Amino acid sequence: MLLSYIQAKQLLQAKNAGLSSVEISLDLGRSISKIEIRYNKFFFPDKQELTEYNIKNVLKKDTNCFLIRNNDIEKIQFFSEKTNRYYKLFPTKSWPTIEISGIRMHVVKDMTPKQDTEKKIELISPCIGYVLDTCTGLGYTAIIASETADSVFTFEIDEAVIELQKINPWSKELFENEKIHRYEGDTFKEIKMLKSDFFDRIIHDPPRLSLATLLYSQEFYNELFRVAKQQGKIYHYTGRPGAKNRNINLAKNVIKRLSIAGFSGLEEVYNGVTGEKK
Ligand SMILES: C[S@@+](CC[C@H](N)C(=O)[O-])C[C@H]1O[C@@H](n2cnc3c(N)ncnc32)[C@H](O)[C@@H]1O
Repeated sequence: MLLSYIQAKQLLQAKNAGLSSVEISLDLGRSISKIEIRYNKFFFPDKQELTEYNIKNVLKKDTNCFLIRNNDIEKIQFFSEKTNRYYKLFPTKSWPTIEISGIRMHVVKDMTPKQDTEKKIELISPCIGYVLDTCTGLGYTAIIASETADSVFTFEIDEAVIELQKINPWSKELFENEKIHRYEGDTFKEIKMLKSDFFDRIIHDPPRLSLATLLYSQEFYNELFRVAKQQGKIYHYTGRPGAKNRNINLAKNVIKRLSIAGFSGLEEVYNGVTGEKK
């Protein structure tokens, strides 16, 4: 059972209004549960109970999601010695995102991570056939692509991210949807095992350049071209071309290298670059 500041606010409002129960979500908006309120305490469906003090602490932290465990709350955040980075599930009004050492995986300003993902996929619509999603993250690109595609192959290198996928209710389909083939590994290496001329669509949504240089390399782009089918389309996230001079150069450099790999029709689009294998 998870809570964010959104549910904490609803719980406190219900208590202050003198209600004896309230319906809120305990899975970040996927479903609704009934919480009983008695003697300034909140009683959850699995018999756990939290105090008003607990709930006020959740409300104070609008940059964290919390797990309800042993009648207490725990922030969903941790440090990985393997990567030397901090990870946390970051709440929004819709699907949460991940923050890795202060860098968020999705756009959360003026839009939700879900809308951000839909916009990326729209750029290679119709998203049909076999889809390669190079970097799983929370799985949103894979999950939304699977609504229209036949099959989605997706790769995630980081065990800490995989742990958050397992906690996040909105990543559930990654583990349950038969159309999604989820692999734990380095996409830079794994792509070499994939068949040539196989994918109708490629979504390349890597971390920023400084964190994953190989995923922006000519060698990797040549592989992306090799595995793409004729008429196959690619969307490559680069950050916001136009927002900062550095990003303009990045998008242009990406276009140059994708073109050397063989892609054509390359253009700067929403937060990235699209192209085609003609
Ligand atoms: C921007 S996020 C992807 C977000 C994802 N598209 C989603 O919808 O949630 C980038 C992800 O790529 C992962 N990653 C970084 N290097 C990788 C590699 N070499 N192979 C596979 N995954 C990698 C990171 O751990 C991170 O989870």
